[in-house]
Amino acid sequence: MTKTPRGRDEWAVITGANRGLGRAVAEALGRSGFRVLVGARDQAGGDAVAAAIREEGGTAECLPLDITDEDALARLVARLSESGVPVAVLVNNAGIYPESPRSHGPDVDPDPLRVSPTVLIESFRINAVGAVRIIQVLAPFFRTGSRILNVSSQMASLSRMTGGSLGYRMSKTALNAATRVFAQVFADRGILVNSVSPGWVRTHMGGPSAPRSIEEGIDTLVWMATDPDFKESGFFWQDRKKIDW
Ligand SMILES: NC(=O)c1ccc[n+]([C@@H]2O[C@H](COP(=O)([O-])OP(=O)(O)OC[C@H]3O[C@@H](n4cnc5c(N)ncnc54)[C@H](OP(=O)(O)O)[C@@H]3O)[C@@H](O)[C@H]2O)c1
Repeated sequence: MTKTPRGRDEWAVITGANRGLGRAVAEALGRSGFRVLVGARDQAGGDAVAAAIREEGGTAECLPLDITDEDALARLVARLSESGVPVAVLVNNAGIYPESPRSHGPDVDPDPLRVSPTVLIESFRINAVGAVRIIQVLAPFFRTGSRILNVSSQMASLSRMTGGSLGYRMSKTALNAATRVFAQVFADRGILVNSVSPGWVRTHMGGPSAPRSIEEGIDTLVWMATDPDFKESGFFWQDRKKIDW
């Protein structure tokens, strides 16, 4: 059971919250009492998530947010400034897996020996640089005890690295590097930064054969976002336990 430590005077910002793990985290944090900012580039989908949270008695709004769009980031900053409310939780969830059989079109060759620079750069642009840009623009809005949760993958673990999915693996490993760097950058402000692997989950990205439910996939994220006793920073987590980088 997660605790409900905070009132509705603090934001939980979730990127890619229109579906999959992001949607489920947004709804769970809405139930925990956060004011939820549903970041979604699909505004209709994001609006539906915000409405579902409000129907359950929570507070939520959708902000159209492509994390690679600097104009969208400026609108995010403007909305947070206008609210005067700090960001207690950022879930850097938006991500792509372009080499996945469920994602790539006929123009993507997933073989590491042939995968195109375009695919590699796009992986970095969204999974690593996009997440870093969100952290950079939200930096003024965090307060002591805020949590930054970077949704990574066990496929980014260098100690377990195997072949395939080069762009996805490299970009999520870069995201893990950002976790370490920002944990240090924010240490004196008491802001906690961690990477979380949800495991292999039945979403659009994970596909129907994945062993985990969405509920299982978000458990560690919701725990880290809501447990007032959680004080760790600069680590990689799965199933509420630290795992090797
Ligand atoms: N499912 C798994 O097995 C698994 C395992 C390890 C890690 N993860 C990670 O978990 C996170 C969520 O994945 P999921 O399984 O829920 O997959 P999903 O259903 O494919 O959802 C991905 C989300 O990211 C959004 N997104 C992609 N690019 C974006 C951008 N430039 N700006 C804003 N949003 C963007 C998508 O928006 P659109 O709807 O507009 O495309 C969608 O909301 C990802 O970071 C993924 O790498 C998943």
